[in-house]
Amino acid sequence: MDARQMKIEAARAALTYVGSGTRLGIGTGSTAEEFVRLLAEKVAAGLAIEGVATSERTARLCVELGVPMKSLDELPELDLTIDGADEVDGALRLIKGGGGALLREKIVAASSARMIVIADESKVVETLGAFALPIEVNPFGLVSTRILIEKAASRLGLSGALNLRRSGDRNFMTDGGHFIIDASFGRIPDAEALSIELHSIPGVVEHGLFINMATLAIIAGPAGAHTLQANNT
Ligand code: A5P
Repeated sequence: MDARQMKIEAARAALTYVGSGTRLGIGTGSTAEEFVRLLAEKVAAGLAIEGVATSERTARLCVELGVPMKSLDELPELDLTIDGADEVDGALRLIKGGGGALLREKIVAASSARMIVIADESKVVETLGAFALPIEVNPFGLVSTRILIEKAASRLGLSGALNLRRSGDRNFMTDGGHFIIDASFGRIPDAEALSIELHSIPGVVEHGLFINMATLAIIAGPAGAHTLQANNT
C-alpha cells in the first residue's frame, strides 16, 4: 500500500464517524483532501451534513465536489472535526500547519465537540519535533517576534533554525494574512510549556502545537487503519 492509499484508508475509516446531521469541521492537507473526496461521494448518495472548512483551499474543493458548506459564524458549534496532522504522539498531541492552515484549523477544532485526526503511520512519533513547528506570526514586527521566539525557546533549552516560510519568490501568506516561521527545534520534550511561552509573545498569532484537542486518531499502515486513543502521558 503506498502513502496515498494509506491516507485514503484513514479517511475512509473516519467517514464511519460522520452521520446524517453532523455539523462537520473539514481539515486541510493531502489526507483531508482524500477525506473530502470520499465525503462528497457519500453526500451525493444522500448523506446530509453541513461542513465548515479550515482553509480557503478546502472550501474550494468542497464547493467543487458538492459538499454543503457554511461559515463558522453560521455554524459556530460543531459536532466533529476531521483533519490531518504533521505529527501525532501517544497523548494525541499534534504538530499541524505544514499546509499553512493552522490558525483556522485550531479555531475550527476548538469549536468542535470532538476532533479525529487522520494520518498515515509515518506521522506517529514518540516525541513531537522532528517536523519543524509552524508558528503563525503577524508581519508587523517580524524581526522582534523572531528574537522573542528564540529567547522563549532558549528558556526551555530549545534552539534551531527559524525559517520564514516562502512560496515561490515571496513570503508564504496564510488565509488570515500572516506569515509562518518554521521552527526546527528538534525534540520538544515539554510541548505544553512551549505552547505557553509562544502564546505569551504578542506577535505570535498561533502555533502548530495542538494539545488536548484530538479525541481520537485513525492511523493507516500497510495492514489497514487502526485507532489510537490518548494514553494521557
Ligand atoms: C495543514 O495546515 C496541516 O495542518 C495539515 O493538516 C498537515 O500538514 C497534514 O497534511 P498532509 O495530510 O498533507 O500530510
